[in-house]
Amino acid sequence: MATKNRRWILRQRPSGDISETDLELVEAPMPVPGDGEILVRNVYLMVAPTNRVWMSDIDQYMSPVGIGDVMRGGTMGVVVESNHPEFKPGDVVEGGMAWEEYSVTSRARLVPVEYGLPLHAFASVLGNSGMTAYFGLLDIARPKAGETLVVSAAAGGVGSIAAQIGKLLGCRVVGIAGGERKCQLATEEFGLDACVDYKRGNVLADLRSACPDGIDVDFENVGGDVMDAVLTHLNIGARVALCGMVSTYNASGDWWSPKMFRNIIMKRVRIEGFLISDYFPRFPQALDDMVQWVKDGQIKYRVDIVDGIENAPAALNRLFSGANIGKQLVRLSPEPALG
Ligand SMILES: NC(=O)c1ccc[n+]([C@@H]2O[C@H](COP(=O)([O-])OP(=O)(O)OC[C@H]3O[C@@H](n4cnc5c(N)ncnc54)[C@H](OP(=O)(O)O)[C@@H]3O)[C@@H](O)[C@H]2O)c1
Repeated sequence: MATKNRRWILRQRPSGDISETDLELVEAPMPVPGDGEILVRNVYLMVAPTNRVWMSDIDQYMSPVGIGDVMRGGTMGVVVESNHPEFKPGDVVEGGMAWEEYSVTSRARLVPVEYGLPLHAFASVLGNSGMTAYFGLLDIARPKAGETLVVSAAAGGVGSIAAQIGKLLGCRVVGIAGGERKCQLATEEFGLDACVDYKRGNVLADLRSACPDGIDVDFENVGGDVMDAVLTHLNIGARVALCGMVSTYNASGDWWSPKMFRNIIMKRVRIEGFLISDYFPRFPQALDDMVQWVKDGQIKYRVDIVDGIENAPAALNRLFSGANIGKQLVRLSPEPALG
């Protein structure tokens, strides 16, 4: 086993994209588990747009990562050593919560390997991304069969799954994504009815053409001009599930304010934000559905894997340039075969 533990330390708060001097990769001694703790070899770091928010000193749902602290982030790995009665070496767990190769924790969650799917599925479609899509759509947006559902960042980790669940519910689903390749993936692989490439620069008009009956439900991942275009075309009684506003997380200077927010009144719209952490106790219920859908091929998923902890900041930047297709993961060590 390795004797060193590489980990990323936040050195300064980024402005815009993360730069080389914002974080430092350091070598620490291998951590030793104390009473009730387990030592985990991290396999996947699930980078997410919210990691960028955690680097900023703004009012948010968790405290920002402190300068000089190890960067926080979702991880999934294998127990190496355990002083906790509920865990044994070889168990697969989620919850190290740091950008590091090995973690000591007492708060890990066991990953239910009995489903017989690969670990990267639990780090994506069956992890926080898929659960966000599931609860955001079914609990918050609540679309009905026959309605038009628009999903932004439709080729991404959350969006691609939300859009496919919308299809299972019988909606007409229109994605918004950056580039021809992503739009093709959204329609051909994920089965969406149409996809608007906002990078063509005509998102307002293209969305109108793709949604001839207007928009009943918006699963919003992006914010900014893309969201403004969606708000413009909302029908009376529409619902907006505000999942994320990735276009604003890197923004410095003037903050975006929606131009079409008045439509929330004019069209009597219900808009509701949510956080997936509020749904942790309900994950087992959602997993039963999602596992079945994945196994039946009704939900397809993509992971975009970058190897090596040294590439974690670059992997996070990919979420803001749009380089990622599907859930962005960083593989820190080999994936074990499950069940
Ligand atoms: N509420 C919650 O609890 C919760 C939980 C998880 C995630 N989220 C949110 O869900 C959203 C998607 O997260 P994810 O992890 O699945 O990421 P993702 O969609 O896999 O990756 C982010 C995507 O956002 C798009 N994007 C980035 N900057 C943009 C911009 N300026 N304008 C338009 N599109 C832009 C890019 O796609 P294109 O190439 O299509 O531009 C990029 O690939 C984020 O807003 C995230 O914060 C919320």
